[in-house]
Amino acid sequence: MRDVAGEIDLRESPQRSVDCGGQMVRPIVKYGEPVLAKRATEVSEFDASLKALTDEMFEVMYAARGVGLAAPQIGVSKRIFVMDATAGQDPARKFVVVNPVIELGEGEQDGGEGCLSVPGFSFEIRRHEHVIVRGQDASGSEIKLDVTGLEARCVSHEIDHLNGQLLLSRLSPLKRDLTVRKIKKRIKAGEW
Ligand code: NI
Repeated sequence: MRDVAGEIDLRESPQRSVDCGGQMVRPIVKYGEPVLAKRATEVSEFDASLKALTDEMFEVMYAARGVGLAAPQIGVSKRIFVMDATAGQDPARKFVVVNPVIELGEGEQDGGEGCLSVPGFSFEIRRHEHVIVRGQDASGSEIKLDVTGLEARCVSHEIDHLNGQLLLSRLSPLKRDLTVRKIKKRIKAGEW
């Protein structure tokens, strides 16, 4: 399923807490949870609890085989995302971005995209091919990400999360309504 970008994977995401070496981590929240629909707030404290949160986000993301995860997806309404489009293969491409601001978005790419908070669906979504983002790392130092391709897609997707937007907001109204109807059916059937 490596052709589905964003948060990859069409398999079921974990419904309950995942056991990672004895430590329970928070489950991924799904479409329908209010925390996914609101703007997350800026981070001002760069302390040990922020570091612990970002460690947990990586754990949850890797366990779910995602390439990115935004804090609201584990129920924390803060402007933080983590990303690793190499699935743990290249530590230099493992990023924590706090308070991200898009400085540049240019070019276009079309591709499949999924979201761990909308499991079982993938969509063709047009994104910028090249994105430059400024923000801070987990210790509060200023960082700048200049990314293309899958990383640019992922950064755009995660920043949407921080603004209370899921990838459904990038679909045509028709496709979005159809998808929401399918999700509501699953919710009703207890399959969400
Ligand atoms: Ni997502």
